[in-house]
Amino acid sequence: MKILNSVQEWLTERESLAGTPIGFVPTMGALHEGHLSLVRKSAEENKVTLVSIFVNPTQFNNPDDLAKYPSQVDKDVDMLSKSGADYVILPTFEQLYPDNYRYKVTENDRAKILCGKARPGHFDGVLTVVMKLLNLSGARKAYFGEKDYQQLELIRHMTEAFFLPVEIVGMPIVREKDGLAMSSRNMRLTPKQRKLAPQLFEILHMKQPIDLTKNQLEQSGFKVDYLEDHEKRRFAAVFLGDVRLIDNVEL
Ligand code: PAJ
Repeated sequence: MKILNSVQEWLTERESLAGTPIGFVPTMGALHEGHLSLVRKSAEENKVTLVSIFVNPTQFNNPDDLAKYPSQVDKDVDMLSKSGADYVILPTFEQLYPDNYRYKVTENDRAKILCGKARPGHFDGVLTVVMKLLNLSGARKAYFGEKDYQQLELIRHMTEAFFLPVEIVGMPIVREKDGLAMSSRNMRLTPKQRKLAPQLFEILHMKQPIDLTKNQLEQSGFKVDYLEDHEKRRFAAVFLGDVRLIDNVEL
């Protein structure tokens, strides 16, 4: 596996790959089995797999959340090399944002609900960085998790709207044995919060009427950021202390 510390290094590498089918997995690092499931799928389906690790500041509406976002690059690189990745790119803000974020991609409908409503500007940051990364990757297929279901749908529709020559592949949520959806933010939970966290999944999976579900979550000790049903799916974001957890289930 090759480690590329700049966009330019990747572009040079990409030239030598002309015509080779590339699969791409964008991430913000602090990797876990959820990320690795995407990498393995890409390695299965494409000759070459590129992974990016970039904690994208423009998608963080809360500076504290950005400052506390976990980072473990050496461990990530090790995990990727064992999961079938061929290249990992670690770009800088200056490389990805030569415009200093003067240009952005805005979706004005479905990006304004759920996480978009709770985190103003979040999806502008996500869609903008994903547009940049997809264009740089030159990938034929790109892989995203259903853990971030709203993000996956917005990216899928963005690629259609802008005729990007890439297929977006959605992958199921990978969970811990106790049901908690894997997330880089889980490492920030205290042992007590970590014990409570799987109840988010348990309660959502009961598929009770929504008011009852909201009560159950609050009774269990979660602060509910939102709980809503959309297109036969139930979406939740909750806080345990200052750690925000999201999950979703099909209804
Ligand atoms: P990040 O949170 O690092 O997630 C990278 C990819 O891994 C996303 O597609 C996400 O949905 C997927 N993923 C995370 N946890 C998962 C789980 N438990 N099961 C399955 N897939 C999971 O999402 C982002 O980064 C960023 O917004 C990004 C797209 C990289 C743009 O900055």
